[in-house]
Amino acid sequence: MTSRRSVYELAGGEETFFALVDRFYQGVESDPLLRPMYPEGDLAEARRKLALFFIQYFGGPTTYSEERGHPRLRMRHLPFPIDKAARDAWMSHMHRALDETPMPDAVRAEMRQYFEHTATFLINQAPPGSLPVRGAS
Ligand code: HEM
Repeated sequence: MTSRRSVYELAGGEETFFALVDRFYQGVESDPLLRPMYPEGDLAEARRKLALFFIQYFGGPTTYSEERGHPRLRMRHLPFPIDKAARDAWMSHMHRALDETPMPDAVRAEMRQYFEHTATFLINQAPPGSLPVRGAS
């Protein structure tokens, strides 16, 4: 019989997502590239939004959208200059957080793949030299 349990349930419910996001933000807090993009002071709100979003995305309660509306991730990230370096820095903290948070391996692999893909999709800065120069040809 095929299991219909969500990734949210298989991961261990909301506790796992809050633990993941806590570990993730510990990395962001000391990251010289990423920290300035986040609000000054306490990151409690940022933590809560990210955890609620993951919970919703992976099949748990929809509190995120009840509080914030449609995620519109690309639009919400446009104010932040996300180039490949920022994307890779974000992913490095997420890789570490995933490695350190207990959950079944198959669930971890699925989350990793989703984060990798979404982080790439959120890049909004072209690499230097990649744009055509007007009048160059
Ligand atoms: C690629 C590198 C990324 C950077 C540099 C980045 C940066 C940020 C920043 C600075 C905020 C604002 C936090 C605040 O004001 O409280 C934010 C919010 C958020 N980010 Fe990212 N992010 C990245 C990738 C991702 C990925 C991959 C996801 C999802 C898989 C994601 C999901 C979110 C969500 C859900 C919010 C809250 C949106 C809201 O309701 O306002 N981010 N991000």
